Amino acid sequence: MVIYFQYMAKGKAKSKPSPKASRRVATSGDIEVSTYLEIAKEIGGVQPAAAKEAIPSGEREAVIVIDFGSQYSLLIARRVRECQVYCELVSADTPWEKIAPLNPKGFILSGGPGSVYETNAPMAPAYIYESHLPILGICYGMQVITHQMGGQVAPGTKREYGHALLNLGGVESPLFANVPQSTPVWMSHGDKIEAMPPDFNVLAYTDNSPFAAIGNDKNIFGLQFHPEVVHTPEGKTILKNFVYRICGCQGNWTMGNFITDSLTKIQKEVGKGKVISALSGGVDSAVVSTLIHKAIGDQITCIFVNHGMLRREEVERTFNTFRLNMGMNIVYVDASERFLDRMKGVTDPETKRKIIGEEFINIFEEEAKKIGKVDFLAQGTLYPDVIESASSGSTAAAKIKSHHNVGGLPSRMTLKLLEPLRYLFKDEVRQVGLELGLPEEMVWRQPFPGPGLAIRIIGEVTEEKLEILRAADWVVMNEIKKAKLYRQLWQSFAILTDVHSVGVMGDYRTYGYLVAVRAVTSDDAMTADWSRLPYDVLARISNRIVNEVPEVNRVVYDITSKPPSTIEWE
Ligand code: XMP
Repeated sequence: MVIYFQYMAKGKAKSKPSPKASRRVATSGDIEVSTYLEIAKEIGGVQPAAAKEAIPSGEREAVIVIDFGSQYSLLIARRVRECQVYCELVSADTPWEKIAPLNPKGFILSGGPGSVYETNAPMAPAYIYESHLPILGICYGMQVITHQMGGQVAPGTKREYGHALLNLGGVESPLFANVPQSTPVWMSHGDKIEAMPPDFNVLAYTDNSPFAAIGNDKNIFGLQFHPEVVHTPEGKTILKNFVYRICGCQGNWTMGNFITDSLTKIQKEVGKGKVISALSGGVDSAVVSTLIHKAIGDQITCIFVNHGMLRREEVERTFNTFRLNMGMNIVYVDASERFLDRMKGVTDPETKRKIIGEEFINIFEEEAKKIGKVDFLAQGTLYPDVIESASSGSTAAAKIKSHHNVGGLPSRMTLKLLEPLRYLFKDEVRQVGLELGLPEEMVWRQPFPGPGLAIRIIGEVTEEKLEILRAADWVVMNEIKKAKLYRQLWQSFAILTDVHSVGVMGDYRTYGYLVAVRAVTSDDAMTADWSRLPYDVLARISNRIVNEVPEVNRVVYDITSKPPSTIEWE
């Protein structure tokens, strides 16, 4: 399993990195960045536990994904939610009592790495069949249905992986309404169906799979291919058919409904209590704080710690949005000097992170104490985090993860956690943010690391260097936004290197800083590619930096991907 938080120490020639070393120390920004990683998160082979409680909803309805460990399980849930139907992922051993309150309208059995004929292969719980609700088995899920209902599954002679052409044939089914007669699908399976269970019909086939889609008249279906991935262009139509035409869902999962329901729920949970949150300028903390504020007004206080390593205008924008536009109660702490003092002489990237993390937690705690008795800590935990922590049990990842929640503050301060976004995906959080009136620029902000510019200044961090980097970074952001590239890039920023080089300006020779520009595309920050920015955008960035930042006389563009490089330079 790939754990995002466990970063390997960067390999320096003389010191061999320890495989356990992590370069992360929790600050508020960490929580933000972590949640950008929901897409394509690899949770293969694990069985997440059921979520703690049902979603708030007047007309509650849900489709439940039984997770057999496919790397695509979360994606299935996202796709169903894109159809405006609430969907949750649960493990195969989740008891019916936990499912029933969600008012399930149907089940989807996910893919998975197992083989149904192996001992201890995970199977679908009996209540799935006894409920008489519609069932859609995908890949391994289809094999589970076949196996449990009296068909036959056998090891394939060769693994089928990649595109295949699906042809509708055999019996007509509402599952394929509005799907063309032939359409590409994405296959990824080893085992195959030898014989369908009794009373099942073929609905579609490919050259290699005579049973690419099967179904019976009790609304139980199996798909050998993956409708949830983008490589199956009609996948969304098929899933939509399943949830609407077959399960009969109404489609009441909208962010407007979510907000209405959450307000009542937060009011009930908090009562007359007091809540604090750590604002960072990022999307999750912004949305969570705004939502809670809408529910309970001044019972929430947001603590905004300026560690002095933020970008130009970041403090003002964040402060103005929340204090002036939203009228929220904000404790703004300008701790720049305190942080910079501790950064004196520090050049090692991990030490920088550690110091910033420690100071952040100390200050947050000091400020929280001043507020008096506080009952809740609000956090922007999202659904992928919930699934990941549930699935990782007591592993190192779980510990890092819990430490991550503002550095273990809840246990030290005995605060209850308030996590109203814990059932949302990132794109849903953005939607909630927009509906709550947050500015687009905040809702669509690229990830920004908790330690901020400190890890984009190579070597010692000083106020002078911070100002140089802020000026250069401003140009990058400005030009990228002007070129309308901001949203399609995972991140784009400047780095202040510790290299000086000779230049010439007018009649004078200069000896100035080298600034590097980094712009990457990525789905999940685990891998990234350098962006092929248009030359004229690069030219404008370079020109403006050397003209507007006198200390800089040379600009280079980073053309390395991750791996082997990382996105940040430190
Ligand atoms: P790397 O540099 O490891 O970065 O490829 C992957 C993603 O993580 C962000 N990043 C951090 N975020 N605290 C954070 O909150 C950190 O210490 C940290 N280091 C890297 C980075 O910006 C990218 O999105």
